Amino acid sequence: SFAHVQQAPEDPILGITVAYNKDPSPAKVNLGVGAYRTEEGKPLVLNVVRKAEQQIVADKSRNKEYLGITGIPSFNKLSAQLILGSDSPAIAEKRVVTVQGLSGTGSLRVGGEFLARHYGGQKIIYVPSPTWGNHLKIFPLSGVETRTYRYFDPKTKGLDYEGMIEDLRNAPNGAVVLLHACAHNPTGVDPSQEQWEGIRRVIREEKQLLPFFDSAYQGFASGSLDTDAWAVRQFVNDGGEAFIAQSYAKNMGLYGERVGALSVIVKGAEVATRVESQLKLVIRPMYSNPPTHGAAIVSVILSDKDLFEEWKVELKDMADRIISMRHQLFDALKERKTPGNWEHILNQIGMFTFTGLNKQQVEYMTREHHIYMTLDGRISMAGLSSRTVPQLADAIHSAVVN
Ligand code: LMR
Repeated sequence: SFAHVQQAPEDPILGITVAYNKDPSPAKVNLGVGAYRTEEGKPLVLNVVRKAEQQIVADKSRNKEYLGITGIPSFNKLSAQLILGSDSPAIAEKRVVTVQGLSGTGSLRVGGEFLARHYGGQKIIYVPSPTWGNHLKIFPLSGVETRTYRYFDPKTKGLDYEGMIEDLRNAPNGAVVLLHACAHNPTGVDPSQEQWEGIRRVIREEKQLLPFFDSAYQGFASGSLDTDAWAVRQFVNDGGEAFIAQSYAKNMGLYGERVGALSVIVKGAEVATRVESQLKLVIRPMYSNPPTHGAAIVSVILSDKDLFEEWKVELKDMADRIISMRHQLFDALKERKTPGNWEHILNQIGMFTFTGLNKQQVEYMTREHHIYMTLDGRISMAGLSSRTVPQLADAIHSAVVN
């Protein structure tokens, strides 16, 4: 019987949308989930995505057959090139295995399951504190013990670099370290290039740790695909092993298509072949093989020079709109003389601002101002618009002064 089944809590991020949908107020604003909205507050389907879809539909040679277990080969190759750079020595040396995944989550999960079965080091993953909530569920359920390293310093609202380095130094050799490739979620705080180099030295030289990158925002943080892949490339170009989960949810706006990739970078071509064979054994009993449509869209865009250039422009437009929201919100709080230092709204990177507002303040803003955001004080800047900035600023102001 199932009478004993308990009511589960809503997901801390996706549950915000559930609550938002139930609110009848016309004034409601959803700044919970990290999903891009236009100035009109509408979801955006990129023009390049529409064009790629038209090509796909018109191409009668395409069919609805099953993909292979690892997905569309050209998609995998292009995804590795996108994150590692098309001139990547690791790709040339055939040390990179890439499999199509179900967006970021699915790619992380396949990576976690593979680590749990085959990793020769410590089956322990260190994730930043705080991190995207799903990391804390994906890895333990994969069979990889999950611990945290210090990352965010609430006092400076910046990186606790010393704490992070100390925690990595104290991790057992062979442990895995989850790193956000850029635009750390939820804090919007990234290491500087110099700090990345310090982190790399600890991971590669002082210790033998395995970096596992979560790349959910390539192109979204700075507007440049190469700039946002910089840290990952430092770790791969040094010749060491690495895991990378890529998502196309944000940077191509393909949220619901569930399209992403997992790359495993090893030390030799033969090892790569064997790793790929084992990844197939992880995937097959989980979901058999991945869906076609989203990956086909990505392949068309990444392989067509004109569409690729057009994508970069659209990506930069999205990144720029988010940055302009940062300025508008900062100015609005300044205008209201809201107590506190709000510089971090300008300094944080990517989709989110980690405001520093506490749970009570967030609950107040939701109750009194119909602003929906996660209880950790994270705001999706991509969900804001010029119209809603004043409402958010009023809500923050009254939450802070009350
Ligand atoms: C988020 O953090 O809001 C996004 O990555 C969406 C998700 O799946 O949680």
